[in-house]
Parts: sequence; C-alpha cells; structure tokens
Amino acid sequence: MWKGLIEQYKEYLPVTDKTPALTLHEGNTPLIRLNALSEELGIDLHVKYEGLNPTGSFKDRGMVMAVAKAVEDGSKCVICASTGNTSAAAAAYAARAGIQSLVVIPKGKVAAGKLAQAYMYGAKIIEIDGNFDEALQAVRDISETTDVALVNSVNPYRLEGQKTAAFEICDQLGAAPDILAIPVGNAGNISAYWKGFKEYNEKKGTTLPKMFGFEAEGAAAIVQGAPIAKPETIATAIRIGNPASWKLAEAARDESHGKIGAVTDEEILNAYRLIAAKEGIFAEPGSAASVAGVIQSVANGSIPKGSKVVAILTGNGLKDPDTAVSASTISMVSLPNNEEKIREYIEGVL
Ligand code: F0G
Repeated sequence: MWKGLIEQYKEYLPVTDKTPALTLHEGNTPLIRLNALSEELGIDLHVKYEGLNPTGSFKDRGMVMAVAKAVEDGSKCVICASTGNTSAAAAAYAARAGIQSLVVIPKGKVAAGKLAQAYMYGAKIIEIDGNFDEALQAVRDISETTDVALVNSVNPYRLEGQKTAAFEICDQLGAAPDILAIPVGNAGNISAYWKGFKEYNEKKGTTLPKMFGFEAEGAAAIVQGAPIAKPETIATAIRIGNPASWKLAEAARDESHGKIGAVTDEEILNAYRLIAAKEGIFAEPGSAASVAGVIQSVANGSIPKGSKVVAILTGNGLKDPDTAVSASTISMVSLPNNEEKIREYIEGVL
C-alpha cells in the first residue's frame, strides 16, 4: 500500500524520529501519455497529473512536509497567502494534524472549488483587496513577529516535499525526460523539481531534463525581467507578479539549459480545452500553461521533434468550474421531459 510521501521518501527528506507520520496518502500520481497530442506534435508527450493528489493539486506534496515540521517544532497554527491551492492544502493538512490554519487570499480571484475546500477544512479565511504578492508580503511579516508557522513555498520544507514528484517521474519513465514543462507562478515548484532531478541523478544516475517554465503573459515577471505590480490572467492560480523563488527558478533554467517563456490566456484556454476534449484529462487553467508552452515551443522549434517531454498538470480541473463552463464551446440543449422529443434530438445528432 502507498503510505504517502514522508514514509515513502524519508531517506531523501528532512525527517527525524520526532517528525509526525502525517499523511493523506499524497503523491504516487499517474504519468499519462497524451497519445493524440504526441502524434499531432511529433513528440513523446506525457503529463504528470498532480490534480489527483488528496486536495487536487501538487501543493499536497509540499504541505505534508511543511505542516509535519511545523507540528514537530511545536506550532499550533499555520499561515499562508494563496491564489487558492496552497490554502486548500494548508487547511487540509492542518485539520489532519489537529492544528489551526489561517489563509490570506486575493478577494474575488480564487476559484470556487478552492474556496469551498478552505471553508470545509476549517481554515480561518481572510480576503484582502489586494493581489497574491501583497498577501504574501503581509503573511511573511506577520509570521516573523507572531507564533504562526509560515507554509508558503518560501518555507524550505515545501520544496523538499515537492521535489518528490521529480523522483516519481524518473521511476515512471526509467530516467528523466528530455524536457520538463511546468507552469510558473511563485516559482517554487520549478525550483523543487530541479532540486529533485539533481538529487535523484546523483543517487541513481537518472540524468537531467531541460527545465521549461511557463508564466502567463499578463503575469510574466521573470520573462520581462521586472516585477509586475498588477498581474492579470484567466489562470488565477499563477496570477503572481513578483515570484518569491525568482532566483531559484532562473538557476533551474540556466543550469539545465532550459528556458522560461510566457503563454497568452488564449494559448492557455486552447490547451485547457484540448487536453480535456482530446485526451480526457481535466486540469485547471493554470496547469494548462505547461501544455500551452509545449505546443508553442514545438511550433517555434525550441522543442525538437522526437523529444520526450513531461508536462506537469499541477491542479484538477474541478477546482475551477466557472472557467470551465465559460470557456467551453459546448452549449447545453434544453428539451421537454418527453422521450419522443429526446429521441428525435438524438437521432438528429447521429
Ligand atoms: N499551478 C497551480 C495549479 C498552482 O496553484 C500554482 C501556484 C502554480 C501552478 C505555480 O506554482 O507558485 O510554485 O510556481 N499556486 C500558489 C497558491 C501560488 O497559492 O496556490 P509555483
């Protein structure tokens, strides 16, 4: 039986005899080959479907570690700023560990499913008239002078937990792929994957991928080389203008001979619809930035034909039902409750 990350990977993680055996059985997510898109693009494309983690995003990998260490250190409360997924994961693992969670979120910019999770897991939810970057600044300052443990990805235990996804990819493929494509928001995850690939390569000789990160164009601070005061994108998960792990992300890019690029909202929505309709995989818009980046990079030649590529689908599509309904090109048909009418319609479709 899969026992979760801390148990599975303790030799690679900062685990002591005092670290609690916290788990919701996170990790061990599937690597799925995109058959239709691989053929269309002329590459061997797989997705790591992180939306199948317990709270529906990759954040569970980092949060199990961060909350376990907070409990080990005697904390009774964790705090984070979030575009939604971090808050869901923090609230769930805090509930599991029997401690309180406090989440600070940008008003009106958190997808419905993520907000529902924070309510149900029992977080104290604070919305502010500001963006993620401003919320993060506030919780960083507050955690320095109050007795709460900060569990944003500036907490090093978060990256430790998240690096395990790179281990799984190497085990699933037998080695690292040529290219790892990943959405970039606060830039923690790209940094965690790179750390994971390097550590596994040192231990097991699994080789190293080129790291290809993708920001949303309206929030592409790293690409533009300067923070963005008012980031905007339909992909609210990565609506971030001043990534905290900026330097680490650039190091991952440079050491791996990769790149960090930008994808437009239109490219994101196109990939979002495509992977659902053509491959049967529903990922949230922010996640689709990775596949959008792959499509763009094949078109402009920065991903050569024949490459083995893994794109990270960071969060589940169910997190954001409103965007799904509004982005869909399908309209519902309304019929009377009459079998003949339903039959007529279906016969017309066939
Ligand atoms: N994809 C999803 C679905 C996310 O929720 C996030 C970040 C990212 C990608 C980007 O990862 O920040 O490590 O570069 N969400 C954070 C949150 C900011 O608050 O849930 P990153």
